[in-house]
Amino acid sequence: MPIDARAKLLRQLRGAYSGELAAGYAYRGHWKSIREGPDRTRIQQIEAEEWHHRELVGDLLRTLGGKPSPFREAIFWCIGRGIAAFCHVGGWFAPMYGAGRLERGNIVEYEEAAVYASECGHDEMVDCILTMAEVEWEHEFFFRSKVLDHWMLRIFKVWPAPPPKETIRGG
Ligand SMILES: [Fe+2]
Ligand SMILES: [Fe+2]
Repeated sequence: MPIDARAKLLRQLRGAYSGELAAGYAYRGHWKSIREGPDRTRIQQIEAEEWHHRELVGDLLRTLGGKPSPFREAIFWCIGRGIAAFCHVGGWFAPMYGAGRLERGNIVEYEEAAVYASECGHDEMVDCILTMAEVEWEHEFFFRSKVLDHWMLRIFKVWPAPPPKETIRGG
């Protein structure tokens, strides 16, 4: 069982590591595509937080003796660059909406990683991983609040809201 959890943790972190690469590039394209103002500044800050996550996840991977998957890295590099390019032509709504949905998944990704870490005896990693989940929660909250009163939501339903931030540590 512990070996299984360790394998799951490694897989999760490898996925997150490349996911953060895509996120970093995608947000860089996103903030560059919108006009100067608080939203642009916030997304710029979110980009920096994703690069920071990538560093942290890289450290965790190294500690576990794992390595990023070159294949995944290549795929997610393309995804990130692709989204960044799309942001310049996709209008205001789609990048905000897409980002919010993806961030919703990121919260869960780190919550699961924290469970695996604890299951395989790496309790010292849990705080770092849950802090990342909390930061993703803030990202989701930002994008949700951006799209919430947009008229497009009459066509696209907003994604299900995450439980309150406190529940990240509650579990
Ligand atoms: Fe992140
Ligand atoms: Fe994020």
